[in-house]
Amino acid sequence: MAACVAENPVEHSYHIAQPQAVPACTVVIFGASGDLARRKLVPALYNLRACGQGMGHHEFAILGFARRPIAVDTFREQMRDAVAQYSRLELDDKCWHEFAERLDYLGGLDQPAGFDRLRMRLEQLEATYGLPPNRIYYLSIPPEGINEAVARLEQAGLIGRPGAPHFSRVVVEKPIGHDLESARETNRSILKHFAESQIFRIDHYLGKETVQNLLVLRFSNTIFERMWGARNVDHVQITVAESEGVGSRSMYYDPSGALRDMVQNHMLQLLALIAMEPPVSLEADAIRESKLNLLRALRPIAAGEAASQVVRGRYTSGTNDGQPVRGYLEEQGIPGNSRTETFVAIKGFIDNWRWAGVPFYLRTGKRMGARESLIHIQFKDLPRILFNRAGVLPANALTLRIQPDEGFSFAVLAKQPGLGVTISPVRMNLRYQSEFEGPVPDAYERLLLDVMAGDHTLFVSASFVEQSWAFVQSILDQWGSDYSIPLNEYRAGSMGPEAADRLIQADGRQWLTL
Ligand code: BG6
Repeated sequence: MAACVAENPVEHSYHIAQPQAVPACTVVIFGASGDLARRKLVPALYNLRACGQGMGHHEFAILGFARRPIAVDTFREQMRDAVAQYSRLELDDKCWHEFAERLDYLGGLDQPAGFDRLRMRLEQLEATYGLPPNRIYYLSIPPEGINEAVARLEQAGLIGRPGAPHFSRVVVEKPIGHDLESARETNRSILKHFAESQIFRIDHYLGKETVQNLLVLRFSNTIFERMWGARNVDHVQITVAESEGVGSRSMYYDPSGALRDMVQNHMLQLLALIAMEPPVSLEADAIRESKLNLLRALRPIAAGEAASQVVRGRYTSGTNDGQPVRGYLEEQGIPGNSRTETFVAIKGFIDNWRWAGVPFYLRTGKRMGARESLIHIQFKDLPRILFNRAGVLPANALTLRIQPDEGFSFAVLAKQPGLGVTISPVRMNLRYQSEFEGPVPDAYERLLLDVMAGDHTLFVSASFVEQSWAFVQSILDQWGSDYSIPLNEYRAGSMGPEAADRLIQADGRQWLTL
């Protein structure tokens, strides 16, 4: 094929896959009175339906299911406020009205009889709106409620066989388990009632547009993939920095901490996507297999090494956006004797042919001085010849910005115009926002549509969940048994504890400045 110079990338785009057909269905949100339903799920569903303004007009009804009985009108009012506050698209009265007609509510999630009522209400809704009995059960409930919920769904005859003419699918939110053992237990108990093909385990990072773009960037640009590995790469950094504190989530966060909350899922997903081998095809199973293999090659933090390869930290009072903020221990609902980490940095290695000997530095934390997620590939130094005889020229680097300013930049060296030879680092910078037009769907919109379409590509397999817990568990075990491993303090608004700087500086490297 003739090479084509795309001056305007949109004019010269290549459609590889169209959005998939989405059958009509009903989404049951378990835990509909919770935070996730309000902030993410209902706004995402509103955006998907929003009178054709959204990403297409999809036929579905929504049934909120929670413990407390509340009037449907009250639920609709609450969700209206939530959409007004959190939706990507502005709330429009006409769209809202149309959406709200299909929004229903049922209490009784904590009672066995509640599930019989659920069946009846579903049949009623389907008859009213002429919907086929395609059902999605979105479990936005605490992990300890999952086993019981899936068992009761089965007892109430609400789970169809895989391959039946109409689908029954279950969506499971993180955290899946609290440790390796409970993750296995949760997987086992869901698999007792649903087949793997009916289960969708969400990691919302996989729905982010820029995370999906990692695969396109790697596998449709010859220049990068040929450079990807120990021969050319000095090291890789993955940073997910948040400026928010723990907020009102102390009940969930304090028993979890940053390692469970961010590393076990989002960070290891990013690591797998950036470092995995090319999948044999774009099929969901092939991509999931490649990711799993990468994780299998991630070297466990061996006994005794957590002290030198992992740094944990906790924020003290400081500032956020110039405003004074409390330290973690002063946050509402945090016990005074808490030992929970709000920051983790890890130095890891991938023991495979491609990455042998290349350090991967991961860091994530709350109340840091920036809100930014990125992956930084630092290439190897130039040889000390020609322009670099003095050994001072910086090496090339590729920085993939996941949020908030999505895009990537490639650091290269160029000659400054002039009579002498002066070399300057310059950045080739792509910002998606200025390069591409059109709306960017929220991660949950994309993922909910994929569940409706039955596409598993952006969902997490049971094996990946367990493999990622196995890695995290080796650290948890050491933190749990070796009390000499410090919990380092860092000021809110800083970039984490000094010990994290020392972790990377000990290897003669630096964290990227955000
Ligand atoms: C969630 C964590 O999974 O991800 C939160 O529980 C974290 O603690 C959030 O703040 C980060 O997501 P995002 O999309 O804001 O980067």
